[in-house]
Amino acid sequence: MSIWSKKSIAQLQDEEGATHELHRTLTGFHLMLLGVGAIIGAGIFVVTGTAAAQHAGPAIILSFVLAGVGCLFAGLCYAEFAAMIPVAGSAYTYGYATLGELVAWIIGWDLILEYLFASSTVAVGWSGYFTAFVRDYLHWQLPMELTSAPFDVRPGSHIPHATGALINLPAVLLVALMTGLLIVGINESARINNIIVFLKVGVVLLVIGFGVAYVQPDNWKPFIPENTGTFGHYGWSGILSGAGVIFFAYIGFDAVSTAAQETRNPQKDLPVGILGSLAICTVLYMSMALVMTGLAHYSELNVPEPVYVAISRAGPALSWLGPIVSLGAIAGLASVVLVMLMAQPRIFFAMARDGLLPHFFGRVHPRFRTPYVATLITGVVSMVVAGLFPIGLLGELVSIGTLFAFIVVCGGILLLRYRRPEIPRPFRTPLVPLVPLLGILVCGTLMIGLGPATWLRLMIWMGLGLAIYFGYGHKHSRLGQGKPPAGPPPPPLTGAPH
Ligand code: ALA
Repeated sequence: MSIWSKKSIAQLQDEEGATHELHRTLTGFHLMLLGVGAIIGAGIFVVTGTAAAQHAGPAIILSFVLAGVGCLFAGLCYAEFAAMIPVAGSAYTYGYATLGELVAWIIGWDLILEYLFASSTVAVGWSGYFTAFVRDYLHWQLPMELTSAPFDVRPGSHIPHATGALINLPAVLLVALMTGLLIVGINESARINNIIVFLKVGVVLLVIGFGVAYVQPDNWKPFIPENTGTFGHYGWSGILSGAGVIFFAYIGFDAVSTAAQETRNPQKDLPVGILGSLAICTVLYMSMALVMTGLAHYSELNVPEPVYVAISRAGPALSWLGPIVSLGAIAGLASVVLVMLMAQPRIFFAMARDGLLPHFFGRVHPRFRTPYVATLITGVVSMVVAGLFPIGLLGELVSIGTLFAFIVVCGGILLLRYRRPEIPRPFRTPLVPLVPLLGILVCGTLMIGLGPATWLRLMIWMGLGLAIYFGYGHKHSRLGQGKPPAGPPPPPLTGAPH
């Protein structure tokens, strides 16, 4: 069988099994909550500050517009893709049905970069707020050696250097805790997840609503700081680089599609969930960025807890907001780590059932009914990465990986409209070919903004992925051998809001 072999949609539906019909309880509103829960995280709470300080200044708002536009085009294509294949899964599964095994593998391998590394990135962001909270409210200064990354890279350099720290221990412990929760199956977590989503949005609204009164308009001048002569360091190229970096803040809306099997009406609810959560977050992000860069000068925001620093610039009038922001960020970022750690094992699981990864990745725990091996592997890798690397490096890697996956998805939608016009499309991306083409163009431009060192890391990751595919996956592919997938479909998504 060739690397282009595809699964039929009937085959995919067979693989689903009838039992899962019973769990179809989620509506578009639930998916929107799931989406906002996955989206709002370290991006707005941490990366906005560093991106404003290092790349765009107050013009980071324009970066948010650019990245939001890229997400909108990609999101419209994603929604067509997700609704077209009404089974559980992710872009990996949809790719397998429409674009063939190799492209599915490339998307899946890229999604690992997205979810797995994003869980580490957000855990590092969490560690910053946790450390600040412990310092300011419990009066306990945790040593720098145990709360920051032992490795960093200088801008433009490929080689990591030692920072003198040993490990980012809070980040590691958070991932360990969340992995443990996911392995035992946290059935009661749905309500908690909903509460955290409201809490997170509430904190963002409080910062916007109360912060706006204390904005110093002088902080917005110059709105676009002059370029320093280096690409991406302020000026228009800085806005572009900033957009690539804060693209990270939007990541997560695609995680909605992984809950398709528990959705009442996937055809209608998926697009509502994906596009709705994206719209809510864009408005919140732009307002928040405007207020943050108005409260504090952008050069002060290059810290692990920029929202907190911004409101502290308002003086005693907003000091009551400090602990609320800290606790909101601590709870909110933890929930993002959970969602990412939950989504990733299901991709491993799907790949293992298809034979593209060894079958132990697909083991389900006999008592807890969770994909525990894939969860454990995800957790351990995420812990190591979170413990060793800084948020800037990780965030850029996650951004470039996800942008690449989106380009493949946009390209796929375009191709399928011509190659497979007969597949029913409950949601159709408007203005094809314009929207997918613009998606490719904008996401490609954002990738260019990320610079050569991040590109090199992406290439190394993809090279590794192709080596695994041709060295293992292609030979063991169940489809290639004419066999059905190994084992039952994945257990329902624990923790999804019901
Ligand atoms: N969008 C998610 C965040 O900002 C990944 O944390």
